[in-house]
Amino acid sequence: MPTFRAPRGTRDLLPEDAARFLDFARVARDLTDRYGYRPIETPVFEQAAVFERGIGEVTDVVEKELFRIAPRTDEAEAWALRPEPTAGIARAYVQHGMKTWPQPVRLTTIGPMFRYDRPQAGRYRQFWQFDVEAIGDPGPAIDAEIIELGTRFYAEAGVAGVEVLVNSIGDAACRPRYLQALGRYYAGVGEALPAAERERLGRNALRLLDSKDPAMVPINAAAPRITDHLCDACSEHFAAVRAHLEALGVPHRVEASLVRGLDYYTRTAFEFYVAGRSGQQQALGGGGRYDGLIELMGGQPTPGIGFGLGLDRVALVLDEQGSEASGAGARAVDAARRPDAVVVSADPADTVGRLQVATQLRASGLAARADLGARKLGRQMEAAARDGAHFAVILGVEQADGQVQLRDLKAGTQRLVALADLGREVGRAVKQHRHGDAG
Ligand code: HAM
Repeated sequence: MPTFRAPRGTRDLLPEDAARFLDFARVARDLTDRYGYRPIETPVFEQAAVFERGIGEVTDVVEKELFRIAPRTDEAEAWALRPEPTAGIARAYVQHGMKTWPQPVRLTTIGPMFRYDRPQAGRYRQFWQFDVEAIGDPGPAIDAEIIELGTRFYAEAGVAGVEVLVNSIGDAACRPRYLQALGRYYAGVGEALPAAERERLGRNALRLLDSKDPAMVPINAAAPRITDHLCDACSEHFAAVRAHLEALGVPHRVEASLVRGLDYYTRTAFEFYVAGRSGQQQALGGGGRYDGLIELMGGQPTPGIGFGLGLDRVALVLDEQGSEASGAGARAVDAARRPDAVVVSADPADTVGRLQVATQLRASGLAARADLGARKLGRQMEAAARDGAHFAVILGVEQADGQVQLRDLKAGTQRLVALADLGREVGRAVKQHRHGDAG
């Protein structure tokens, strides 16, 4: 047993996984660039009130899952690690007066989020999200743009069979009436309603709809549906979002029970699933409209919409689908760069010479590694071949004349090259080889 382990619910991304996440980030960066979303970084911790007010006090995320940071005695502020980036981005929008920028402000970020949840497959206490937000446009066209962008990410990351579920959860005009109807319904369920849910009922009836308690499944199946209670403005907005999605050729299904777990949502709500995987823990991503959030953060009434896609779950699904071969996963592994050259030496003590020559090669843009071991030349050459290096640069007696042996490990040939020409020679051969591969 090792003395220390990564905390429960977290995991180390070893090079293969970390490379894959970098590749997800590349796909996301390239996509959001094309769609005109600009990167933003907000702190991984904020005043706890940003989340309490933004996400809602009576949500699992705030009530049970917020990682609160114990303040030092001389700090009055209560902080928490971010469980999601939207509240922090909304805080930044207000703080930096982004309302004076051209609207909508299209923003994107990728990074770790923290939720003190019970760990299980696909549910971690530290997980990664690719997040996109468009703030300042009431929709409905931007809603469709965002949902389509989400599906495009999955396609480019190599995930097959992603389904889009959409719903409208109304706004301040129609939701209160719906909540009354819902409250009446749950009250009528009586004893069958689990005690914890009964306790929440008085505070936030909507949260019962996405309860994780299995006893709630049959109860919720018969509950009144928000879509039957939408006001005209919300109905029209929802119909227009769907019409835009159809026009863009984005298949989607209306799911009346989809309410999302965070309080800031209004109107459009959506989630991404892979067919056959269902249930709350299996959502690959989700998002929606939050027309009241900026005001909650102290700004003027400003509409917004966005999504967060769970990258850990994308990686899991790619593994399950075994589709790394066609997706970002495989590219990440391939991209682990093989050295163009490994610098070895007949004199095991000459670490300075090996480092100098490798440094010179790297300065000319090549991938070069110095073998700094004290082992025999033959062993150094074997290791270079095992690494898949194209060349071995062998330092020996010829160094006195400013020359080294350049061994082509692929062709099995060797020749003397002037040290001054080494970068150019290796570069040319590597380039020729790549063209040969392509042809
Ligand atoms: P969310 O539905 O809470 O939404 O999270 C989005 C996605 O993050 C989930 O669908 C899931 O893939 C992933 N995720 C959530 N919790 C975990 C966990 N414990 N372990 C692994 N993956 C997880 C939001 O966070 C909103 N901020 C999305 C949004 C952006 N809405 C508007 N803008």
